Amino acid sequence: MEHPPSSDQLHMAADTIRQHCTRTPQVGVILGSGMSSLADAMEDGRTIPYTQIPLFPVSTVTGHTGALTVGSLAGHYVVVLQGRAHYYEGYSMYQITFPVRVLRLLGVHTLIVTNAAGALNPTFAPGDLMVLSDHINLVGMAGAHPLRGPNLDELGPRFPDMSQVYDPTLRTLARRVAQHRGLPIHEGVYICVAGPSFETPAEVRFLRLIGGDAVGMSTAPEVTVARHAGMRVLGISGISNIALDQPTTERRTTHEEVLEVAKVIVPRLTELIKGILNELPPQ
Ligand code: HPA
Repeated sequence: MEHPPSSDQLHMAADTIRQHCTRTPQVGVILGSGMSSLADAMEDGRTIPYTQIPLFPVSTVTGHTGALTVGSLAGHYVVVLQGRAHYYEGYSMYQITFPVRVLRLLGVHTLIVTNAAGALNPTFAPGDLMVLSDHINLVGMAGAHPLRGPNLDELGPRFPDMSQVYDPTLRTLARRVAQHRGLPIHEGVYICVAGPSFETPAEVRFLRLIGGDAVGMSTAPEVTVARHAGMRVLGISGISNIALDQPTTERRTTHEEVLEVAKVIVPRLTELIKGILNELPPQ
């Protein structure tokens, strides 16, 4: 997909998913690396493999399931995307953000986006959660922007405002639910890099210097497209590792480490998301 998707392509994918829905989904959840188990907590969940949805990109990365589940979760009819495609896999920005636009056409107005991220903030520990207060889309600022090209007027404006991307009410709610349940929670700025290499120590120091608290390889493009389409967004990072800021031969950042810590993060994130949905008034 070298160009933004057409309205027909988006509606075709939305129609396919709608055939599996018993109600209009209003909340969408995107799960990051190794986080697919939230869908197991859903009632009357119906799972559709991405391969059965026209133009849905399928992730090639271990830990990303590649299926969508619709069903009830904590009193809301929810669409959960288990696994996402990344820019570093070779997909275009249009492809990786395609599912978000399809969710909007389905009726989703509130989007919860999760990811695994490396800590830049020295007070964070692996296993902690971070509510995104804002992001720096380094990839987008460098030109790989998901809204580049002809604007889809049906979804949103040519020049969308980005002055408050992460909904303050949802952020407060997320922090309150986490604190109430004793989950380790922070709030901070997420920086999106292209990957797939992890950062060099000099890059880590640079990212910290420009104001980042956590770094990862996703989320900002999807959230940008969601805001363009007027969705209310909550972003949550699961801190999987400490980004290494000094050259060292003793420590390494690996995808296995990220997936290992995901085992701690997943139950926490599942509890947090369910707790948030419980408190969220139906719309
Ligand atoms: N850097 C970039 N992306 C990541 C990291 C990291 O340290 N950990 C998980 N995703």
